[in-house]
Amino acid sequence: MKTVETVAELQAEIRAAKAQGKRVGFVPTMGNLHEGHMILVDQASEECDFVVASIFINPLQFNDIDDLGRYPRTLAADQEHLKDRDCDLLFFPSVDEMYPDGQDAQTTVSVPVVSEGLCGDSRPGHFDGVATVVSKLFHMVQPDAAFFGEKDFQQLTVIRKMVRDLNLPFDVVGVPTCREENGLAMSSRNNYLSEEERNTAGQIYRVLNEICEQIKGGAKNYAELCEHGKAELAKHGFEPDYIEVRCADELKQPSKKSTDLVVLAAAILGKARLIDNLRVQLN
Ligand code: PAJ
Repeated sequence: MKTVETVAELQAEIRAAKAQGKRVGFVPTMGNLHEGHMILVDQASEECDFVVASIFINPLQFNDIDDLGRYPRTLAADQEHLKDRDCDLLFFPSVDEMYPDGQDAQTTVSVPVVSEGLCGDSRPGHFDGVATVVSKLFHMVQPDAAFFGEKDFQQLTVIRKMVRDLNLPFDVVGVPTCREENGLAMSSRNNYLSEEERNTAGQIYRVLNEICEQIKGGAKNYAELCEHGKAELAKHGFEPDYIEVRCADELKQPSKKSTDLVVLAAAILGKARLIDNLRVQLN
């Protein structure tokens, strides 16, 4: 696996792969790679002949400077993981390479409606930062398919809408969430948890499951179910941000007739803000 740091090198490598008729799969990340990232790489190498990953801690999507500063940077270990899992090319640009005119002078991409509410409320500007960097990366890589985790469900929804609205000519593939044994969704931010907090953090999955089971059992009082779920989390020492039931398509508010639902949660535990979600299909 080769690591390149400039757009020019990246594009030369991809041109060469495409000239050989290879289908290019792309996995954008911010590094500190864990199994949740690696399943995206596995899926990409299953569906494509040339897998490109990127590691870029994108300052535009951090609204908290401390969060940006402490975000784990583990390039050597990340390269080893990617090598083990059939990644062909790693793009590891600097902030200057990505934003040569400075972050404030960067043209931005904003995806309306789906960026609002849920994490959009507690992280203002976050999804504009994500949409902007992912749009730039898409133009640089010009993949045949791009792979994103369902763990960040609102992010996946934002990216799908952006790709549709801007007529980008490739598939966005959503990959199911990879979890620890206790159900905790894997995340780089789990590193901020103590051993005890990690055990407690499994409660988010438990609470989401409980809500899904109740919905499957016919419960329609979604607001009440979510309030109860938040109280459960608070009891275990979380500071809940939100639990909401939405339509899985476009995250619209569900009606009583909606059948394809997703329950989304965000909660702070110790130093970590954790997010998770579970789909419920009614028929
Ligand atoms: P990052 O948090 O590094 O995640 C990179 C990709 O891995 C995202 O698509 C995310 O949904 C996926 N992922 C993370 N944990 C996962 C898990 N437990 N199971 C399945 N997939 C998981 O998301 C970002 O980076 C950034 O916002 C980015 C899209 C790279 C733009 O900067």
